[in-house]
This record gives sequence, structure tokens and C-alpha cells, in this order.
Amino acid sequence: MYILGIETSCDETAASVVFDDRTILSSVVVSQISDHARYGGVVPEIASRKHSEAISMVLEAAIADSQIPMEKISAVAVTRGPGLIGSLLVGIGAAKGIALALGIPICGVNHVHGHLFSPFLEYPDLSFPFVGLVVSGGHTSLFHLRSHEEIQLLGKTRDDAAGEAFDKVSKLLGLGYPGGPSIEKHAQGISEIPEPLPQALLERHNLDFSFSGLKTAVLRRVEKVFGRRPDSGRRGSFHQLVPNRTADEDLSRVNDIAAAFQDSITEVLTTKLFWAAENRRVDSVVVCGGVASNGLLREKVVKKAKQAGLQAVFPSPGLCTDNAAMIAARGAGLLSSGHTDGLDFDAKSRWEHNHGGSSTT
Ligand code: KG4
Ligand code: ZN
Repeated sequence: MYILGIETSCDETAASVVFDDRTILSSVVVSQISDHARYGGVVPEIASRKHSEAISMVLEAAIADSQIPMEKISAVAVTRGPGLIGSLLVGIGAAKGIALALGIPICGVNHVHGHLFSPFLEYPDLSFPFVGLVVSGGHTSLFHLRSHEEIQLLGKTRDDAAGEAFDKVSKLLGLGYPGGPSIEKHAQGISEIPEPLPQALLERHNLDFSFSGLKTAVLRRVEKVFGRRPDSGRRGSFHQLVPNRTADEDLSRVNDIAAAFQDSITEVLTTKLFWAAENRRVDSVVVCGGVASNGLLREKVVKKAKQAGLQAVFPSPGLCTDNAAMIAARGAGLLSSGHTDGLDFDAKSRWEHNHGGSSTT
């Protein structure tokens, strides 16, 4: 069955045609990164306007690339939440229009579950149970998956998402948006961290995350190294403290801070992922979402998996960041187990992750 997937939860307008829940026939992603870059983060009002401008073109391109005539599409899967309401509504409106015009079923998909099941597009033999870490700009959560329906939340961030921490620290250091790729680039080649930053592991085996302490530690480090203080009105806010054009010597200090931050956050993510794997006695760990494209995180997870005799699975970078193929694939799974939605379903800006299965711990 050919599924049309639509994703508009944040700053990517995406559409994809997937055959069953495995084969990607087309995947079109139009990113708004350049529209938000100067604000250092996603501006919701701009995001929904941009989705609304791009959605028709993205849908047409996805259908054309798939070489599947529109009338052969058997269902539409669309991100229902969590995400920015105005953005979600653009995708949901388009999906409903198509479902109504073609007289085909529609299915609302949890964006986080889309990330969690994205590895099946490239690793069809991945078997349950496994532990999945979703690390993106909006989410940092650990799950135990026993089947397509049994998804148990094991822990989540108590404050910022990991990607959000990358973005805020990058802004502070004057390294631009999105922060992850920029911090990774500046940290490249620094293997010995001159002055490590703290790791917030909380108590042993606690699977929740907290990155606000690390963020504040970076702020203090910047103040110490550069002697700059935020003005009183902005104290504690993460505006840019280091100018874009820094002297070579300053740039090397910026790079050291970027490397220390990256090292600390990837260490926490890796440690908790393997605590969860040990706790649930699984054979595989999956890491997905935008931050999963981070090279150091991949390196650490692969190394630890080897030591523990586990399989480590990462989607390729194009499937780590937001895309509609993962939404179509997850939709295919839900539809094949009989799940559809009426044309009156709403968007959910927040959506607990235990939909479609067992309870939250
Ligand atoms: O999954 P995604 O595209 O969107 C959300 O659902 O949030 O993730 C975007 C996030 C951004 O915060 C970005 O800074 C981060 O993923 N990111 C990275 C890297 N590439 C993207 N973080 C660390 N290292 C990277 N290479
Ligand atoms: Zn995402």
C-alpha cells in the first residue's frame, strides 16, 4: 500500500511517499532554517506562514518524484503533534483535503513515534525489544519498545531538550543556528578537553535528563574566559555573549568550550541509553532525531555497544532530522493494525508519548 506522509510540526515542510512501512519512493524536505537563523531559534508565526507557502509545492514534488499516480495513494499519514500548533494545522489541513478528495483513510501520527520507528526504513531486520533514544530540538526521551504498539516511556528531559541546549549554547558562543552542526564543527579535532564541564547524570539509574545546569555552567565559563557579563536585564538569558568575529586566540577558546559542552552532553546521553539497555535487557539500542547525526555521540554509542555486545542502530543523517518518510512509515504501521482517524481530528501541541500502547513509567 502506498502511503503519503506529511510533516509540518516545526521548521521543515516535508512530504513523502512510502510503500508499505519500508520502502521510500520519494522524500521532499524544505527547510526554513535560513528564515529563523537570525532569531537564533524557530519563530512560530514565521514557521506557519512558511509552511503554508511551501506545502502545495512540496506535496506536488513528492508525488511527482514517487512516480505513483495520485489515485494510487491508499492513505494519508500526517503529524498530529507534538509541535507548533499553527505549523501542525497547515499539514493537517492539507492531509484532510487530500483524504477527502481521494476518499482514502487518514491517520494522525505522533512525531516522536515517527522518529522512533524511522530506523525500520533502513534496518528492516531490526527486531523488538529495543531501547530507543529520541534526541532532537524539541525532545529528549528514552523508550522501551516491545512491539509496534507497546511503547513505554522510561525517562525524559526535565527542562531543555538536548538539541535545544546545543542551539542555546551555540547562540551564546556566537556560532549561529542550528547549533548542533555548528558546535560539532567547532569542536572537531579537540579530543583532550582542557577543562571539562559537569555531567548531570542525576542519581544512578535515573533515566530522566536535565541540561539546564550544563547550560548555566557554559554561561559561567564564557563569563570567566571572556570576562563578559550579560547586562542586568538579560542576566541568565542565552543571548550572544561572544562576538561573531573573534580573534584567533578567542576562537580557540570558543572551540574549547564547544568541545567541552559536546563532550559532556554526549556522555550523559550515552550513559543513560546504556543504563536503560541494561535495565531492560535488550539486544539493540536505537538513537534517532536531529542530535543523532552528531559524530561524537555516534562514536560513543558504537564503542559502548561493542563493549556490551549490543547492536547500535542510527538512521542516516537525512532520516535523523525531521522528514515525512518516518511519518508515512509509522502511519503504515498504525493503519495496518486498523487505526484510522476521522476527518475532525485536531492538532496536539503536546502529546504524551505512550499513545498506541502501554503506560508511562
Ligand atoms: O529532529 P530535528 O530535525 O527537529 C526536531 O524535531 O526538533 O532536530 C533538530 C535539532 C536542532 O536542535 C539541531 O541543533 C540538532 O537537532 N542537530 C544536532 C546536529 N544536527 C542537528 N545536534 C548535534 N549535532 C549535530 N550534528
Ligand atoms: Zn523531530
